[in-house]
Amino acid sequence: MRAIVFDEPGDESVLYTGEVESPAMGPNDIRIRMRATSVNRADLLQRQGMYPSPPGASPLIGLEAAGEIIEMGNEVTGWKTGDRVMAILPGGGYGEEVVCDAGSALPVPDIYSDEEAGSTCEVFLTAFLNIFMLGDIPEGGRVLVHGGGSGVGTAAISLGKEAGLTTLITAGSEEKCQRCIDHGADVAINYNDGDFSEKVKEATDGKGVHVVLDCIGGRYLEQNCKSLTADGALVIIGLQGGSKGEINLARMLTKRLKVVGSTMRARPAGKKAMMVKAFMDQFGDALKAGRIRPVIQDIFPIDRVGDGHRAMKEGKHFGKLALRAWE
Ligand SMILES: NC(=O)c1ccc[n+]([C@@H]2O[C@H](COP(=O)([O-])OP(=O)(O)OC[C@H]3O[C@@H](n4cnc5c(N)ncnc54)[C@H](OP(=O)(O)O)[C@@H]3O)[C@@H](O)[C@H]2O)c1
Repeated sequence: MRAIVFDEPGDESVLYTGEVESPAMGPNDIRIRMRATSVNRADLLQRQGMYPSPPGASPLIGLEAAGEIIEMGNEVTGWKTGDRVMAILPGGGYGEEVVCDAGSALPVPDIYSDEEAGSTCEVFLTAFLNIFMLGDIPEGGRVLVHGGGSGVGTAAISLGKEAGLTTLITAGSEEKCQRCIDHGADVAINYNDGDFSEKVKEATDGKGVHVVLDCIGGRYLEQNCKSLTADGALVIIGLQGGSKGEINLARMLTKRLKVVGSTMRARPAGKKAMMVKAFMDQFGDALKAGRIRPVIQDIFPIDRVGDGHRAMKEGKHFGKLALRAWE
């Protein structure tokens, strides 16, 4: 089958369409003819040789895919060949055929295009897992999302709106702040305007937020903890601002704070299946009705995947960069 591959780690130009073996099936797996996938930030790291697939997963890049089922393992129930599905993957999304545990797949809403379906799972499930499951946000709670204009950020804004949360975001320009507000955020903070924790305090009448969804790490540790209300949770999903920081344990103790580290990719299939079910229980109706839908900045034919990676590196996008499969 065709797949996007690279021989040596490097910049965007190392990626090309090559021929690889089709992935093997297990009894609980489905095989998907991939119609669309998308660029996620981790893909750039994998291409640079810094974030290989976890053991047992496809070595190909690609954390999600959408298409139709073309084969099913003999223990799979609830799906049939021809069903349109979108799936969260530990790797392999940049291949013409994708094999995954059936529990990692969701039905594609009728009104979604293939590109929308291929841009949904990684960001919506990441936002869901970390705000609702690990962050355990209370009903009507307040969440601070760093990088509101990212794929994950725009998904978090949509889920927050649907669930009746108050969503605060940070972004690096006035334009992105405004786009986040237009998309449904309640408060937007330009992270270049100084200490964001002060602005969080102002915007929440001094109370702070219940959950911080953080893709920055070390550099924001102190401000994130300051931004939390009592019993709040800081959920760290990225380390764009470094992996080390200092934490005030007295604040942690007195406010009973939790700091949680989280990666989607290496979560076992069984845990992903539980997460997918919980997501569908809470947001399945909204998904079906199109009230939650990915924001797509651009669609690239997968042969031009390097352009998609470059666009993510440049960081001007709002939402997702989708990849359309080969004809
Ligand atoms: N752990 C997990 O399971 C998991 C899963 C998926 C994604 N992630 C992480 O989540 C993040 C978003 O992923 P993505 O694929 O959606 O990438 P993306 O669209 O490229 O987003 C990167 C975001 O980081 C923001 N950012 C950069 N510097 C910042 C700063 N100093 N303060 C606040 N925000 C800042 C950018 O905001 P501006 O453009 O406004 O500067 C941009 O919105 C990445 O760090 C990714 O690694 C983690």
